[in-house]
Amino acid sequence: MPPIIASFPTARPRRLRASAALRNLTREHELSVNDLIWPVFVRDGEGIEEPVPSMPGVVRRSVDKVVEAAVEAHALGIPAICLFPYTDSALKTEDCAEAWNPDNLCNRAIRGIKAAVPDLAVMTDVALDPYNINGHDGFVIDGEIRNDETVAALVKMTVAQAEAGADIIGPSDMMDGRIGAMRSALETNGFQNVTILSYSAKYASGFYGPFRDAVGASGALTGDKKTYQMDPGNVDEAMRMIARDLQEGADMVMVKPGLPYLDICNRVKRDFAVPTFAYQVSGEYAMIQAAALNGWIDGEKVMLESLMAFRRAGCDGVLTYFAPQVARLLNG
Ligand code: PBG
Repeated sequence: MPPIIASFPTARPRRLRASAALRNLTREHELSVNDLIWPVFVRDGEGIEEPVPSMPGVVRRSVDKVVEAAVEAHALGIPAICLFPYTDSALKTEDCAEAWNPDNLCNRAIRGIKAAVPDLAVMTDVALDPYNINGHDGFVIDGEIRNDETVAALVKMTVAQAEAGADIIGPSDMMDGRIGAMRSALETNGFQNVTILSYSAKYASGFYGPFRDAVGASGALTGDKKTYQMDPGNVDEAMRMIARDLQEGADMVMVKPGLPYLDICNRVKRDFAVPTFAYQVSGEYAMIQAAALNGWIDGEKVMLESLMAFRRAGCDGVLTYFAPQVARLLNG
């Protein structure tokens, strides 16, 4: 049924916009700290916070500083933090063995966070790119990204992260069959309550550039990721990927990047009615920060407006580098 609107002047839509009280009463969507997942970059060393030049305001933290950040996130009411390792290039190999090392950076950070703030949910990244000598998310054999061999490695990585205490496993690799394989490994290893937030509809995007700088994968990457990440022209394919990942055991799904793919977020929520997340990726963050730092936009306003857009589209939450800043604003 189309909405009923009386004609002017019986209806004056501006009546509901005339005061903050009426605007607050009639607002359809809200942004809350409960909607935030904060992605953070982990590096080696101690007492280090090293700026990422292409992401003003974002730093790579040593494990002790990540734990401090987690304590702060929890105090701000942010429900989850997501870890991405910046791996020393000496540890990047063709067999990516560092990825499932129980004592790698990411797993040490998980243990540290869980010891300090057990109530904060810790999300991980499952993909080989931070550990791969060629920067790809999967094994490269004779120039081909090999699916099944990669899935076997991702399963080992998943179990190591669950053993370290991860609450949310985040496969960002886009290999086929990975969700089912991870789910059954989690079940058989006693991790029935570990959740999977699948990067189900992840596009081969130019918006990941600054992230690849942040994890040190830019220089390493040979070629592009188009044989596994999705083509930006596709919608139906995204719906098939979401359906497949849910059937294989994903508890939550993600669309990535965020703002340029709001149409996908909206369809996913409407068609599947499952917990739906978007990733406001590094390039989206960098664009807003760059314009704000130049004084071309009001950074705070645009940050809040961009995040409200995800809520309006139907997302339950957003992975955003703005998380602590937004939380501070929302907490007043
Ligand atoms: C890789 C991964 C990427 C991001 C998260 N995990 C980049 C890529 O696929 O190359 C991007 C996040 C961002 O841009 O903020 N597994």
